[in-house]
Amino acid sequence: MSEKKVTVRQEGKEDKVIDAPEGAVFLQVLKMNGYSLVCCNGKGTCGRCRIRFCGNGAPLPGAADRIAFTAEQLRGGYRLACMNRVRQDCCIQVEFVESRQVEAVTAYKGGITKPAEGKPEEKAMPGGDEPYIIAVDLGTTTIAMQAVALSSVREWQRGGNLHVFGEYSCMNPQRQWGSDVLSRLQAAADGQAEKLAEAVRTALAEGIGQLGRKLGKAPQGIWAAGNTAMEHLLMGLDTASLGRYPFTPVSLEEMELLPEPEYKGPRIGLLPGISAFVGADIAAGLLACGFGERREESCRLFIDLGTNGEMAAAGKGRLICTATAAGPAFEGGAAANVPGTDMIALLAEMLETGIIDESGLLEDAYFEKGWQKGALRITQQDIRALQMAKAAVCAGVELLMEALEIGASDVEQVFLAGGFGYYLDVEKAARIGLFPAELADKVTAVGNTSLLGTCLYGGDPSLREKTKDLCRRAEVMNLAEQPGFEERYLGRLNF
Ligand code: FES
Repeated sequence: MSEKKVTVRQEGKEDKVIDAPEGAVFLQVLKMNGYSLVCCNGKGTCGRCRIRFCGNGAPLPGAADRIAFTAEQLRGGYRLACMNRVRQDCCIQVEFVESRQVEAVTAYKGGITKPAEGKPEEKAMPGGDEPYIIAVDLGTTTIAMQAVALSSVREWQRGGNLHVFGEYSCMNPQRQWGSDVLSRLQAAADGQAEKLAEAVRTALAEGIGQLGRKLGKAPQGIWAAGNTAMEHLLMGLDTASLGRYPFTPVSLEEMELLPEPEYKGPRIGLLPGISAFVGADIAAGLLACGFGERREESCRLFIDLGTNGEMAAAGKGRLICTATAAGPAFEGGAAANVPGTDMIALLAEMLETGIIDESGLLEDAYFEKGWQKGALRITQQDIRALQMAKAAVCAGVELLMEALEIGASDVEQVFLAGGFGYYLDVEKAARIGLFPAELADKVTAVGNTSLLGTCLYGGDPSLREKTKDLCRRAEVMNLAEQPGFEERYLGRLNF
């Protein structure tokens, strides 16, 4: 295979000439030469890997290029680096679109466990030798940590306050291998598993170290919860079976990890999970919201929205969980980089003003370039992505209720968890059909319940047993295999 010369231009940097094998994908060539990008890892859906060919050297645009760029941009030489290959000597300008920094939400709302009703968490400096634990929410996008007074975990259950001594958060460094779970599983399958594990372990060691230095002493325990793929990647477990049917995890048990050989603190305990798609973060969230009682008498729903949408329904002595891939829809539009909560508010507004119709179609005037409000641009592609995600969530909730043989009037409360849920305008979410309209007045946005549940799990051994029992008893529903799912999903696509 012959080599071609690719001259790379980037604003503020000197031109660089790279020898690239003919036929290589531009994105791979650039990544191997130090041009990093958090993206969809070459699936052609995020639109962030922009390059611009100098002069007339641009190849004919493919389908993904045509979706990502306007006709004018295509004429100007813009293409997606992941969808085009090196065919000849050429000169390109790298115009990667950096992803929005997502703030990790560490807040959760008082009142989500019955004894603490109405009381917000309180922050105070550690007194004397008061022991503390660190809880970690290992998210696909962000990592959030809290140092919590051990004694206050019991107080919280009796109606007191949870004393948070310190917080730390960062982006999950595994994002460089792709913003979604599947991209990372693919990267692990391509021989990057060790690097993925190392990246997240380093981030954990950094956060734990910072909190320890700030508080002047080591924690008594460190507990972390993530989705099943994140925990597997962190532990260095084989993830091959997570990425293909029947999606069997290597372990769903509580696990232990030493983040780095020279790390001196306590081992990190990882919470147990429920299934390949309903992980320890959801088990922790359910614990925080008071699920897991053996009788599970009252009918309640739990919805956690992020890169995945996980849902659970409890009642009549049963607890059923399910999950759906939400893609980037709730964490920023595929190309527009619009925060998911803004997306929902804007879509509700666009519906009211007739800029989109009930089927989600943009008015002719905006069809090609999208609709702009301030710095936010919403394209037809973003709208479709959100429609698919919200239809899957809504259909999932309905099927869970159907499995329990309950109607909306039987449901006492709906917990909307996750950083996304924390900022959500519930009324607008109901307007676009994120959940059945009859449930709207029962929805409470509860914030980062994964973090709260991890605090509780780490601070009280009896809650560990309760969580393990919850994980064992939970029934898992595979949405795709449910009769009628597709019909229902299609029926919920419209606004
Ligand atoms: S990496 Fe090219 S579109 Fe996402």
